[in-house]
Order: sequence, then C-alpha cells, then structure tokens
Amino acid sequence: MSGKVLTMAQQKGGAGKTTLVAQLAVAFMLRGQRVALVDIDPQRSLTRWFETRETAASGQSLSLISVTGWRAQGVVEKLRTSHDLVLIDSAPHAEIEAKIAVRAADLVIVPIQPSPLDLWATEPTLALARAEKRAVLIVINRAQTRMKLGEAIALRIRELDAEIARATLGNRISFAASMLEGLGVAETDPRSKAAEEIGALADEIMARTGS
Ligand SMILES: Nc1ncnc2c1ncn2[C@@H]1O[C@H](COP(=O)(O)OP(=O)(O)OP(=O)(O)O)[C@@H](O)[C@H]1O
Ligand SMILES: [Mg+2]
Repeated sequence: MSGKVLTMAQQKGGAGKTTLVAQLAVAFMLRGQRVALVDIDPQRSLTRWFETRETAASGQSLSLISVTGWRAQGVVEKLRTSHDLVLIDSAPHAEIEAKIAVRAADLVIVPIQPSPLDLWATEPTLALARAEKRAVLIVINRAQTRMKLGEAIALRIRELDAEIARATLGNRISFAASMLEGLGVAETDPRSKAAEEIGALADEIMARTGS
C-alpha cells in the first residue's frame, strides 16, 4: 500500500501547525485510519504531546517518529507503506527541512491565522509548494467570524493563489487544553464545536486525498 502524506507547513511561527497535526491525527484515527506522525521540528512539540499521550496510556493507534534532516525522506517513504496517512509536522524557518517535507507530501496543509502578519508571511510557504508542484490546502485557524478584521483578512486569504478549506477552526481553548493531556478534542470533548470543526476538516481532507 501507499498511504497519503500530509505535510503541515507554514514558515510563520505559531500558526497552528503542531495543533492541527495532533488534532487531525486523533480525528483520522477515530475514523479508522492508520496514522503515523513524523516530527521534523527540532522543538519537538509534537513529540512532547505524543509522549504525554503514551504516559496517559491512551496513546494506542498512533505512532510517531522524530527525525531531522535528510533522513526524514526515507522515514516517510517507509511509513507510508504501512499506514493510511502520514502527517508531518514541520518547523518554522527551516528551509532545507521544509523543502524535504513539502516534496514528500501528497497535500501540503497551510494553517493561516487571520492577521495581516500571518497573511504576508504565508507567501514563501506557498511559493515553496508551487516550486515543488504540490497541492496546497489553506486552513483558516483561530477564525474570528464576528470581527470585521477577520472578514477582511479572510477576503485577502481568498485572493491567494491556493485552495482554501471550507472547514475553519475557531479560537478555542479546548484545542490547547486537550493537548496538555496528550489527547485531541475529538477524545476530550467529542460533542464540542471544536470537535465538530476538526472533524469537518478531517472529512474534507480525506475526501480530497481519497483516504
Ligand atoms: N484554533 C486554536 N484555538 C486556540 N489556540 C490555538 C489554536 N491553534 C493554535 N493555538 C495555540 O497557538 C499556539 C501556537 O500553536 P502551535 O504550536 O500549534 O503553532 P505552530 O505553527 O506549530 O508553532 P511553531 O511554528 O512554533 O512550530 C499554541 O499555544 C496553541 O495552543
Ligand atoms: Mg509547531
């Protein structure tokens, strides 16, 4: 088999890459997918989440490998033979690693927070994906639908030359709170708005990749 590789990329720090990888991984797992995680960020935030998950004895059904540099490529190719989905969490400002991760991807997912700084900082990430001829899906994270600024920025995001996910994620404490326990919102608050949002995004991505 050859599973699909999803790379979370955004050179702007703090956009929500690690949050989305963890939350999506749990949502995919609950949909019966075999999910592997690859942490190529030397900060190892995703790895910390995964270790917490394992300590809490709730970590079954996901696997994670932490790897940096060129070795990542081989690791991803191996993992895709035994998993339905391989999710890569990449680092901000790591050019060579970002390139490897984007090149390995069937779909590059780019979280953007609705702020001008995030919008402007996204262009290099999109350019990288374009240079590698990779499909891109922008995800609006921490959307603030009731704010005029949010609407104005959303409009500008729509002007970028990339597809935007229909599903958006709100600014919700539970995304962070669940991760503190090594879990995802789909596990801690399955009936919450946050779980509904991440579930909708997971469904949309699976429909796109044919998973
Ligand atoms: N939808 C959300 N609602 C509330 N908080 C969020 C949301 N998304 C991310 N956050 C918070 O924003 C911060 C940055 O998120 P995260 O670490 O996932 O970003 P990142 O892109 O991985 O950062 P880095 O570039 O440093 O790796 C974290 O404190 C996280 O809990
Ligand atoms: Mg991160």
